[in-house]
Amino acid sequence: MEWLRSLVLPPQGSAYASQVDGLYMFLIWLSLFFFLLIAGLAIYSAIRWRHKPGDVTPHISHNTTLEVTWTIIPLFLVIMIFFWGFKGYLAASVPPGDATEIQITAQKWNWTFEYPDGNRAINELHIPLGKPVKFIMSSQDVIHDFFVPDMRVKHDILPNRYTEVWFTPTVPGKHHVECAEYCGKGHSDMAATIYVDTPKDYDKWLETGGVDPNMPLPQMGALLYQTKGCATCHSIDGTRGTGPSWRGVYGSSQPLSDGTSVMADDNYIRESILVPGAKVVKGYDNVMPVFQGLLRDREVNALIAYIKTLK
Ligand code: CUA
Repeated sequence: MEWLRSLVLPPQGSAYASQVDGLYMFLIWLSLFFFLLIAGLAIYSAIRWRHKPGDVTPHISHNTTLEVTWTIIPLFLVIMIFFWGFKGYLAASVPPGDATEIQITAQKWNWTFEYPDGNRAINELHIPLGKPVKFIMSSQDVIHDFFVPDMRVKHDILPNRYTEVWFTPTVPGKHHVECAEYCGKGHSDMAATIYVDTPKDYDKWLETGGVDPNMPLPQMGALLYQTKGCATCHSIDGTRGTGPSWRGVYGSSQPLSDGTSVMADDNYIRESILVPGAKVVKGYDNVMPVFQGLLRDREVNALIAYIKTLK
C-alpha cells in the first residue's frame, strides 16, 4: 500500500511522519470501505426492490438489531480514531528536553530563523540530521502559519505571543516551508527551505554560511534576490511592487517622501537594505524588515553589484 501513500502524501521527513500517515491512511481506507458498502447497498436495493406496476409498499417501522449495530460499530471506530489522533497530537506537542531551540520570526513576507548562537538567516534553515529541533515562533504583524509538509508540521504563528512545534528530521536534503495562513499579497511567495544536513555538511555550512566563496558578486546578488525575499516586493523589470523596482535605480535620482531627493549610489542602497526606513522613496510605504545584522557584508556588496547590472 506504499504506492497509495506516496500518491496522496508527501515524502516522510520526520520521525513521527509515519505515525501521522498511519492514521491518515486508515481514515482513507475506512472512508473508502464505507463508501463502497453504502453506495453498493443503495444500488443493489434500487435494482432488487425496484417498483413494479401494482406493487404496494408494505408498512415498515424499524429494525432494532440493525439500528443498534450501525450505531455501536461507528461509535467504537470514532473513539479509536480519537485516541489514535490524541496520541500523535501529544507526541507532536511535547518536545524532548535536548532539542535545539530555533527562533522563527514571521513577517510579511519572509521567515527569519535565529540560532542559539545568535546567527540569523532569512528563508533558509540548516539543521543537522537526526537531532530534534524545537521552533519558538512569533509574528511581527499578522497571523502566518509555519507549514512543513514533509515533516507533518503545521502551526499558526501569532503576533504578541509564542507558539511552538518540534520534529526530528530523518531525511537529508531540501524540505519546503510554506505559509499556510493567508497574510496578504505576498502570501504565496512566503516560502523557505529547510536543509537537513549530514553532520559533515552541517559543519561546513556553519563555517561558510553556505555561499560559495568564489561566486562572482553580481551572480551571488541574483541568488540572494530570490533567497532573501527581495523578489516578493522588488521587481527587476520595472514593474511597480510593494517596493520600488530595482531596474534602472542605480545612479538615478530618487524623490523621497520628505520632499527632498537622493542619488541612488552604493551608500544609499546599502542604507536602504540595512535600515529601510531611513530614506523612503516618495509614493511607497516602508514595510520592509530591517536587514541590519541579517546579511553579511559580502552579501550586501553582492546585492549592490546585482542592482548595478539592472539597467
Ligand atoms: Cu504569511 Cu501567508
